[in-house]
Amino acid sequence: MDAVESVARAAVLKAGAVFRAAWREQRVIHFKGPVDLVTDTDRTLETLIVEELRRAFPDHHIVGEEGAGADQAGDAEYVWYIDPLDGTTNFAHGYPQCGISLGLTRRGEPHFGIVHDPLRDETFVAQQGAGATLNGEPIRVSETAELDRALLGTGFPYDRRDHAGFYLGFFRDFMERSQGLRRAGSAALDLCWVACGRLDGFWEWKLKPWDTAAAVAILREAGGHASNFNGGPFSLFDQHTLASNGRIHAAMMAVLSARMGRQTAASA
Ligand code: IPD
Ligand code: CA
Ligand code: CA
Repeated sequence: MDAVESVARAAVLKAGAVFRAAWREQRVIHFKGPVDLVTDTDRTLETLIVEELRRAFPDHHIVGEEGAGADQAGDAEYVWYIDPLDGTTNFAHGYPQCGISLGLTRRGEPHFGIVHDPLRDETFVAQQGAGATLNGEPIRVSETAELDRALLGTGFPYDRRDHAGFYLGFFRDFMERSQGLRRAGSAALDLCWVACGRLDGFWEWKLKPWDTAAAVAILREAGGHASNFNGGPFSLFDQHTLASNGRIHAAMMAVLSARMGRQTAASA
């Protein structure tokens, strides 16, 4: 295990213990927007993780969702993207689907990722070129080859009240074409669940780099594929994230493209 993995592992396990203690306590909730929450636990976990990373890697840049790193990524070779609590709405309501996500990019590309699920005690890890593991065991994407047989995950961005019809158009199309849909509320875990074959594919609008940096590294090392909705290369800063086992990627892209064409025509 190299320094990046051992430091990141120690940081998420420490954060996980704090998370589990907070799970039993009353939540302190603040609103970032009409449906976008943050709790004191998000902030505590981010501070803890940033301290650990900064101590070990003073030259790396750090970007945390809650602003604790307060760094501009600029053109740094190594940048950490941290989501200290992915699934804040779930946490606030006591719905047990939350992750702690630390992704390291090298020259802008996902390089290392760790996503810890503190309630299931599951830790997904991958380093570029070294494969992906779940609690130390190698993982692979599913072999589902038809969209018709696929279980898909998705999520809705925080502007969903303003654009509900738009996002539901995509949901409807996949409802008609897949075996089933899940909206579990943690994009990082959704992507890791594609990586280990619990889901066959996933799509979502407007994810942020801290949602995807770690999990896309894990997905790729597990044999999965990530792109934008048009099949263009995955970018941490894109409006679209499409992820799959590879086999159903073209079929998912066709559904997304057809819907985007229809929405554009309708709004023209
Ligand atoms: C959110 C979750 C959710 C997704 C949202 C994200 P947060 O992250 O990943 O599943 O649908 O788009 O913003 O706010 O809980 O860290
Ligand atoms: Ca998130
Ligand atoms: Ca978060």
